[in-house]
Amino acid sequence: MKTINPWAAGLRALAATAFLSVAASTTAAPVADPQLEKAIQQGKDLFTHHTFNGNGRVCETCHLSGGTAPGRLPDGKAIPSLANAAAVFPRFKARQGKVFTLPDQIRSCTEAALEGRAPAYGSDELNALVAYVTSLSQGKAIDMGGKPQ
Ligand code: HEC
Repeated sequence: MKTINPWAAGLRALAATAFLSVAASTTAAPVADPQLEKAIQQGKDLFTHHTFNGNGRVCETCHLSGGTAPGRLPDGKAIPSLANAAAVFPRFKARQGKVFTLPDQIRSCTEAALEGRAPAYGSDELNALVAYVTSLSQGKAIDMGGKPQ
């Protein structure tokens, strides 16, 4: 019969606890898929640098710190952060009188706020922006139609 070494058993239990706490602490961490991570980084680059041939503004002009901090309009008026944006879409937009998805909202900001050429639905550019904005909400509970943070 195999004798059980209490030290080895204790170490195994410790290792299991360490593994579990690492797993728990990484739920909101960057995604593991390298191709998806690449799209997120492309989206971040577009968000911080791209004018979409518009008035010179970029997304970050209003959505500060990559969208993670509360935003500010050019006239100084405060707007919410994008920290849970992907979790509150789709939502009903009273002004447009219709339900908006996250890609609808991003295209709308490109046209209205940047006065630029909105990236086409299904394009790599729009998908990258959606991937980046969604990455900010990673781990947040879905709250369709809820309040932006
Ligand atoms: C001139 C300022 C301005 C710029 C530049 C701008 N936005 Fe916005 N954005 C707003 C305002 C104001 C709102 C909230 C009002 C609304 O729904 O239109 C908003 C809302 C959003 C939301 C929804 C937030 C939520 O939780 O409801 C997303 C996502 C978003 N913007 C993404 C972008 C992206 C991506 C870009 C760049 C292509 C961009 N915005 C550029 C002003 C701006």
